[in-house]
Amino acid sequence: MNKKSKAKSKHQTRMKSRAKILVPKQAKKIQAAQTLQIGKGLDVGTAFIYAAEKIGNEVVFRIERDAFFDLPASDYIKEVFARDEVKYIRNGDQFYVVGNEALRFANLFQRNVRRPLEQGVISPKEKDALPIIKLLIASAVGSHHQAGETVYYSVPAQPIDADFDVLYHQRIIDGFLSSLGYAPKPINEGLAVVFSELAEENFTGLAFSFGGGMVNVCLANLSIPVLSFSVARGGDWIDKQAARAVGEPVSIVTGWKESCLDLDKRENLSRMEQALSIYYDILLDYVVGHLKTELEKSAIHLERPLTIILSGGTAKPTGFLKRFQEALQRFPMPVELGEIRLASQPLHSVTKGALIAAIVDESKKQQKE
Ligand SMILES: Nc1ncnc2c1ncn2[C@@H]1O[C@H](COP(=O)(O)OP(=O)(O)OP(=O)(O)O)[C@@H](O)[C@H]1O
Ligand SMILES: [Mg+2]
Repeated sequence: MNKKSKAKSKHQTRMKSRAKILVPKQAKKIQAAQTLQIGKGLDVGTAFIYAAEKIGNEVVFRIERDAFFDLPASDYIKEVFARDEVKYIRNGDQFYVVGNEALRFANLFQRNVRRPLEQGVISPKEKDALPIIKLLIASAVGSHHQAGETVYYSVPAQPIDADFDVLYHQRIIDGFLSSLGYAPKPINEGLAVVFSELAEENFTGLAFSFGGGMVNVCLANLSIPVLSFSVARGGDWIDKQAARAVGEPVSIVTGWKESCLDLDKRENLSRMEQALSIYYDILLDYVVGHLKTELEKSAIHLERPLTIILSGGTAKPTGFLKRFQEALQRFPMPVELGEIRLASQPLHSVTKGALIAAIVDESKKQQKE
């Protein structure tokens, strides 16, 4: 090969390899632009904040732990945070590490994280909750694809066992999302689960979201909520009661519960397993007992047996469905029940439902334009 042809072949190789890199990237961009769905879903939960958007055929989730950790402010810490890209805000002479990293720092310093939400709403006990929630929401939803993009955010139903209303919480979240340039819309947490899990049943059925601070319940007929309520107890309540019973810190109980709990195991239980098993049953009796009362009060007439969906982080352990069915035997319902099933992704059902609502709204908007 002479010099000229050698150079030519080198050039071709370079062109080829460049072409190899460029084409898939361009193709991806074009594909994304063609299939990017405007509209986002947001689940503002006591334990986690989740956001979802649809890119191509994929639903992409972002998750932030609803927690923060305080440290005395210093230049040295600031440098460490900058190097590790730690999310934080400054408040006077304190730094607040926010979100997923808060837990890492809490473990490092052997202290508990602080929580901006409690029992499903902004914590009245945490005076610094608002800027933390704002940062967590901004980080979860990211920037909008166009000004005024619809984002549906979850709000709990009114609790039947606690003396607070959800409106303050709702207005604050609404304000944060508006200030980011979104068009925010609230969606009842249980109804969001109906949207994500009951499409085949024409959005008719009974949905549960067993969360950290609450359990939300929604009975919908053709996507219209007929009955919804919440109770201000959930996974956090189980952890606190079990921790008290066995004399362990709550964070140890939570960690063990999330990684090891098997509710199918009924014999040779450790003290921790036994305490968690007992409090799971007590929570289920509490929720199912309230449901029975609410159904009796409302005297709802159903045309066909009621499909039930169980979602939320507290529904995750193996054996949860069976425990739920056993609670139903202890509290027979005044309506005929059909299939009872677990959501395919119990932690993501609410966010997915909120995303579906947002995409439907956006496509209606586009049809009008
Ligand atoms: N694998 C698991 N096993 C048992 N519990 C789990 C598991 N994963 C998460 N949890 C528990 O689920 C709860 C969080 O669930 P979820 O994210 O649905 O709640 P949330 O939406 O943040 O809270 P809420 O809806 O009550 O405001 C916590 O109590 C957490 O400990
Ligand atoms: Mg929730």
